[in-house]
Parts: sequence; C-alpha cells; structure tokens
Amino acid sequence: MKKFFLILPILLLYVEAAAAGCPFTGDTAESAQCLSCHSEKADFLKDNQHAARGGRAEFIKETFEKIDKDFGEKNCGGRRVSACADCHQKPEIPEAEVCIKCHTKLGADYLGYGARDYHSRYQRGISVGGKYWMKMLPDIHRESGMACGDCHSMPAGNKAKGCLSCHSYSPEILDHQIENHKNLNCEACHAAWAPNEYGVYFIKLTDKIKAMQFDKLKRMDEYAVSAFSVLNEPVVLGKDAQNRYTPIRPLITFFSDTDGSRENVMLSDKWKPFYPHTIRRETVTCEGCHSNRRKYLLEKGEDRIFLLEKDGLPIGSFHNSSYFSIENASFVTEEEYLRFSAKTPGYAKWYIQKIEQMKNAVDRNAERR
Ligand code: HEC
Ligand code: HEC
Ligand code: HEC
Ligand code: HEC
Ligand code: HEC
Ligand code: HEC
Ligand code: HEC
Repeated sequence: MKKFFLILPILLLYVEAAAAGCPFTGDTAESAQCLSCHSEKADFLKDNQHAARGGRAEFIKETFEKIDKDFGEKNCGGRRVSACADCHQKPEIPEAEVCIKCHTKLGADYLGYGARDYHSRYQRGISVGGKYWMKMLPDIHRESGMACGDCHSMPAGNKAKGCLSCHSYSPEILDHQIENHKNLNCEACHAAWAPNEYGVYFIKLTDKIKAMQFDKLKRMDEYAVSAFSVLNEPVVLGKDAQNRYTPIRPLITFFSDTDGSRENVMLSDKWKPFYPHTIRRETVTCEGCHSNRRKYLLEKGEDRIFLLEKDGLPIGSFHNSSYFSIENASFVTEEEYLRFSAKTPGYAKWYIQKIEQMKNAVDRNAERR
C-alpha cells in the first residue's frame, strides 16, 4: 500500500510533463518555432554550425578548388544541415539511420555498411538511402542498441565521449598487460575494419564526351568519379599529434581532363588520423601488427602487387608512406617498425602465452560440444 502512494505522485508528474511536452509531430518542421522552446539549440541555424570544425570544407578548398573554384558549392552544398528536421522527424533522439544520409563513410561504418566501388557494376547488394553498401560487421555498440547521440552531443563540434568514459582498461586481458601497448589508442586494436578509398579519381568531362562516354562511372554534373581501389580492410596505423598509434585513412585524389591536357594530376596526397566506428571485442592477431609492413605503409618495392607507375600514376605504391603527406600526425618510421617488430625473447614470452590462451579457448569449446 505504501508503495502505491509513492508511485502515484511520480505518475502524475510524468503525465503532466507529457501534456506540456513537445508539440512537434513531424509536419510542423519550422526550425524557428522549435527554438522558441529549445533556444539552447540555436547554433544549428547559424551558418553551417554542424560543420563547426569544417574539415571537409577545408579539404575541398585545398584540392578540388585548385582546378574548379566553385567545386564545393556545385557538388557539396546539398549535404549541409539547415533545419532541425534534417535530423529530427519526431521529438526523440534521432536514430543512426538519419545520420548516415550524409555521413556515408564515417557513420555508415557504425551500422556495418562498407564502401562500394563507384563503377555501376558494383552498385548492388544492400541499398539504404539510395546508396549501395558492402555488408560488414557492425560496431559492437550498435549491436547493444546505442545511437550516435550516446557518444556525440549536438551541435557537433565537441569531442565525442571516449572509451574510458564508459569502460576501464581491464588488466585481466593479456594484450592490455603489455607495457608498450599503452602507446596505442584503444581503436588501434579494437576497430575491426575501415572503408578505405585508394585513389579517388575525378575526370573532367568535355561537352562532347559528356553525352557519350563514361556512362558506367558515377557521374556528377561535370565529372565522372571512380576509384583505383576501394577496400574495407583492417585499419592502417600512423601516429597522432600525441605520438600515439592510431588509425589513419587515405585522402588520395587524382584528376584528369578528357581532352588529355592534364592527366593523373595528384590533387591530394594526404592521410589523416580518424576514428573508425567499427569497435569489436576481438582484435587482429599479434602478427597482424608485428609482422605486417603494409599496416604502417612500409611496403617494400619488391613486395608490390600493383605497379602503379605502369598505370601512369605519379606514385609507386598506395602502401608506402614515402609518396604521401599526413596532417597533424606522423607516419610510423622504418626505425620504429624494426624496433617493435623484432622478435625479442620478451615478445616470444607474451606470444606463447597468447597462443596458450587461444588453445585453451578452443579446447573449452570442443568440450562443450
Ligand atoms: C512549446 C514548446 C516546444 C516547441 C515549440 C518544440 N518543443 Fe520539443 N520539447 C518541448 C518539451 C517541453 C520537451 C520535453 C518534454 C517531453 O519529453 O515530451 C520537448 C522534447 C523534445 C525532444 C526530445 C528530447 C528527449 O530528451 O527525448 C526533441 C528531439 C524535440 N523536442 C525537438 C523539437 C523540434 C525539432 C521542434 C520543432 C519542430 C520542437 N521540439 C518544438 C517543447 C517544445
Ligand atoms: C543533412 C546532412 C547531415 C546530417 C543529416 C547529419 N550530418 Fe553530421 N555533418 C554534416 C556535415 C556537412 C558536417 C561537416 C563535415 C566537415 O566539414 O568535416 C557534419 C559534421 C558532423 C560531425 C563533426 C565531424 C568532424 O569532422 O569533426 C559529427 C560528429 C556529426 N556530423 C555527427 C552527426 C550525427 C550524429 C548525425 C545524426 C544525428 C548527423 N551528423 C547528421 C552533415 C550532416
Ligand atoms: C545533425 C543532427 C541534428 C540536428 C540538425 C538537430 N539535432 Fe537535436 N539532437 C541530435 C542528437 C544526436 C541528439 C542527442 C544527443 C544530444 O543530446 O546532444 C539531439 C538531442 C536534442 C534534444 C534533446 C536533448 C537535449 O540536448 O536537450 C532536443 C530538445 C533537440 N535535439 C532539439 C533540436 C532542435 C530544436 C534542433 C534545431 C534547431 C535540433 N535539435 C537539430 C541531432 C540533431
Ligand atoms: C561509441 C561512441 C560513438 C558512437 C556510438 C558514434 N561515434 Fe562518431 N565518433 C566517436 C569518437 C570517439 C570520434 C572521434 C572524434 C571525436 O573525439 O570527436 C568520432 C568521430 C565521428 C566523426 C568525425 C570523423 C572524423 O574523424 O573526421 C563523425 C562524422 C561521426 N563520428 C559520426 C557518427 C555517426 C553518424 C554515428 C552514428 C551512426 C556515430 N558517430 C556514432 C564516437 C562515437
Ligand atoms: C557511451 C558509453 C560507451 C563508450 C564511449 C564506449 N563504450 Fe564500449 N560498450 C558500452 C556498452 C553499454 C557496451 C555493451 C555492454 C557491455 O558489454 O559492457 C559496450 C561494449 C563494448 C565491448 C564488448 C565488451 C564485451 O564484454 O564483449 C568492447 C570491447 C567495447 N565496448 C570497447 C569500447 C572501446 C574500445 C571504446 C572506445 C573506442 C568504447 N567501447 C566506447 C559503452 C560504451
Ligand atoms: C594491443 C591491443 C589492444 C589495445 C591497445 C586495447 N585493447 Fe582492449 N582488448 C584487446 C584484446 C585482445 C581483448 C580480448 C579479446 C577477446 O576476449 O578475445 C580486449 C578486451 C577488451 C574489453 C573487454 C574486456 C572484458 O573485461 O570483458 C574491453 C572493454 C576493452 N578491451 C577496452 C579497451 C580500452 C578501453 C582500451 C584503451 C584504453 C583498449 N581496450 C585497448 C586488445 C587491446
Ligand atoms: C593493433 C596492433 C597490435 C596488436 C594486435 C599487437 N601489438 Fe604489440 N605492439 C604494437 C605496436 C604499434 C607496438 C609499439 C608500441 C611502442 O613501443 O610505442 C607494440 C609493442 C609490443 C611489444 C614491445 C615491443 C618492444 O618495443 O620491445 C611487445 C612485447 C608486444 N607488442 C607484443 C604483442 C603480442 C604478444 C601481441 C599479441 C598478443 C601484440 N603485441 C598485439 C601493435 C600491436
């Protein structure tokens, strides 16, 4: 009986709050109206605040606008946030599906959607929001029902919640016990894959050609778009501004004119640290990091499979950092790689322990069957 009297006032409070609640039903999507009550969200309506950090706009300026000064306006304007209804169709925290309309790479990876090649022959498989995707493993947090907003507060521009605001770095885990692994960001191990585009290719179409050729390539108004290679692959590592090992991604871009006046011009030779939304419990094996030059862009000339210069490109490999630059970060050096990949007795000790653990896990599984 006592319990009932406790619950009743709470229930009444709840009903009252709901009655005075949000009048937003989905068809009254006037942003200015929303602000009469949610004034703290006004930043969204200031010029492009959702893009406060503006990395993308800057990149477009430095690359495409060297060859076409209106490139950004003509090709990227549609993705800007201009109204509350771009994200809110109901008075609720938006679901991840809303965000990936625009965040087609870093964001879509969270749902397990990998990038597909641009060519029309690859436009098949799962289709969401008018785009085709490769089915990959989703982020573990997606599987536990978390939305983008559980880590990102809005308007964007503040740092997202990091791993340690929700987890501890468990000392029970062998890989966590290795002292030098404290120099790795968590996602260097726990990000399972990343959608990497090696050499995005823009071809400027002359009027004559526009009408006839390149119909199999993705088309923008004045360009055909392609990529040398699109790989949903284990993450590549570099070092961030704090000198910690972290995932990096390629922003390599080429450009040609169909009239042949400019061919294979490298507009961007950049790599950049980033956060893949592909967190999983399991990681690559020790050897996936300790005997793998490509993971650090240290591929040797003789190990190459693709000879890019034979294709007319101004670089010899997508997996050797000597051809590239990196922003606000550094590539792993040969010296660093040789140091941590040396199979010292210290390494062997940990490695054998890990093999034992894996063996025991397999045995336990076999017993259970
Ligand atoms: C008359 C004032 C008022 C207006 C106008 C209004 N809201 Fe609300 N809104 C509220 C109140 C009060 C709540 C919290 C009560 C509740 O949970 O229902 C709320 C809740 C919300 C929530 C959910 C918050 C949560 O924590 O789940 C969202 C999202 C939201 N409003 C968006 C909008 C948008 C978008 C518009 C414009 C299209 C809008 N609101 C217009 C008063 C208003
Ligand atoms: C209408 C398109 C659109 C929608 C919908 C959208 N975004 Fe964005 N978002 C952008 C653009 C454009 C930028 C700026 C990117 C840049 O300049 O680097 C951005 C930037 C961001 C950033 C900062 C990125 C950075 O480089 O620092 C985050 C985080 C973000 N959005 C999260 C979200 C989340 C979460 C949702 C869903 C609730 C969402 N966005 C929905 C277009 C959109
Ligand atoms: C880019 C996508 C995006 C846009 C645009 C956007 N929101 Fe949100 N909104 C979110 C996300 C994600 C959350 C949950 C994370 C958080 O609370 O910050 C949220 C949370 C809210 C909340 C409830 C929690 C809180 O912080 O109070 C309200 C109310 C709200 N939004 C109102 C608005 C209004 C009003 C506008 C337009 C002026 C707007 N939003 C524009 C993505 C967006
Ligand atoms: C488990 C937490 C978490 C979830 C869930 C999450 N993010 Fe993130 N996101 C991060 C972290 C951490 C970063 C790194 C940048 C930072 O600290 O702000 C980031 C970065 C980003 C960036 C900027 C990428 C870059 O490096 O330029 C975008 C855009 C973004 N997230 C969008 C989304 C979208 C869209 C969703 C949902 C589909 C989402 N995020 C879900 C944690 C999360
Ligand atoms: C906003 C809170 C939040 C953030 C930020 C976050 N996680 Fe989680 N994480 C969770 C929740 C909730 C679960 C599911 C419940 C559980 O198993 O603990 C989970 C599950 C996991 C699991 C699976 C655990 C298991 O027992 O199988 C791993 C591994 C993990 N997170 C790693 C990370 C890493 C690495 C980061 C940073 C890149 C991170 N998380 C960021 C909340 C968070
Ligand atoms: C050198 C690689 C590596 C790094 C760096 C790393 N982890 Fe792990 N982590 C692992 C491995 C391996 C496991 C165990 C996977 C398994 O059980 O198969 C694990 C397990 C976990 C789990 C599940 C643990 C449990 O007790 O159930 C969480 C949560 C986690 N890590 C969080 C983190 C966080 C947070 C960081 C960064 C502070 C981090 N990890 C850095 C390799 C790493
Ligand atoms: C995601 C990549 C990754 C994985 C997985 C990984 N390591 Fe490492 N490990 C590194 C990197 C990078 C360093 C160098 C860190 C530093 O010293 O700054 C390192 C350092 C070490 C060191 C110290 C090397 C030295 O400098 O003398 C040992 C020992 C080691 N790892 C053992 C292991 C073992 C055993 C496993 C598997 C159980 C493993 N690592 C898994 C990336 C990884």
